[in-house]
Amino acid sequence: MKIITTNAGVRRLLDRSPGRIGLVPTMGYLHQGHLSLVKACKRENQTTVVSVFVNPTQFAAGEDLNRYPRDLPRDARLLKKEKVDLLFAPNEKEMYPTGFLTHVRVDRLGEVLCGVSRPGHFQGVATVVAKLLNIVRPDRVYFGQKDAQQAVIISRMVCDLNIHTRIRVLPTVRDADGLALSSRNVYLTPAQRQAALNLPGGLQVAKRLIAGGERRSAAIRRAIAGELDRSPLIRSEYIAVVSLDRLEELDRIDPDNTLVACAIRVGATRLIDNLILGDHSC
Ligand code: PAJ
Repeated sequence: MKIITTNAGVRRLLDRSPGRIGLVPTMGYLHQGHLSLVKACKRENQTTVVSVFVNPTQFAAGEDLNRYPRDLPRDARLLKKEKVDLLFAPNEKEMYPTGFLTHVRVDRLGEVLCGVSRPGHFQGVATVVAKLLNIVRPDRVYFGQKDAQQAVIISRMVCDLNIHTRIRVLPTVRDADGLALSSRNVYLTPAQRQAALNLPGGLQVAKRLIAGGERRSAAIRRAIAGELDRSPLIRSEYIAVVSLDRLEELDRIDPDNTLVACAIRVGATRLIDNLILGDHSC
């Protein structure tokens, strides 16, 4: 596995790589969720590129940019074991050199759900992903369903800007107790972690209600709120039932096009999770 820190170095290597190229963008501190994307990328492409870059422009002032967990040597070991071809680990100057002025904003989709409490977040995400797609020029790019809004926004951007890549969205990987894997889980104390389980618990209740025929969004949201209320350590940020393609609020669930998404805070840690009915596409 080559570790490369410059855009020019990536091009030099990829220009002589035959076959299809797959890209897995990450912020590092890798876990099995990230590695599931890497494994899929390995299966479906001849060359697998993983980027590790804690992107400062997607953190708002006061968020956890400075304490976001980082361990590049460990990430490199894990990726080498997966036989990744190229680890792209640029520094901030390489991605945002002096004079940088251009940003990508996906209107409306970036302003709802997580965009409400994280203004500017999705502009930072769209900008860095657009840059990574231009640097690597992958045939396929891999995202996790855990960050469903991110996947919807990137799909929209790729369509709108005619970027030639195929987006693959893969299922959320969970710990044995049901909590979605996240680099931020390391912030949780054991008691907070226990409390956080009400998030996947609430979504499971929602899933059962929907399987039993419930279609009223208000009933689904109430049921999830009931589960989250079980723990005084949880502050719910939003519980939303929206269309998967446009992220518009739904009064009734459409079994082919619905995202049930939640964000909570447990102590200072923000966690998200969701349930998807239908397919990610734009
Ligand atoms: P990061 O949080 O490191 O996640 C990288 C990718 O891993 C994302 O596509 C995310 O959805 C996926 N992922 C995270 N947890 C997962 C889980 N439990 N199961 C499956 N996939 C999971 O998302 C970002 O980084 C950044 O916003 C990025 C796209 C790299 C842009 O900076």
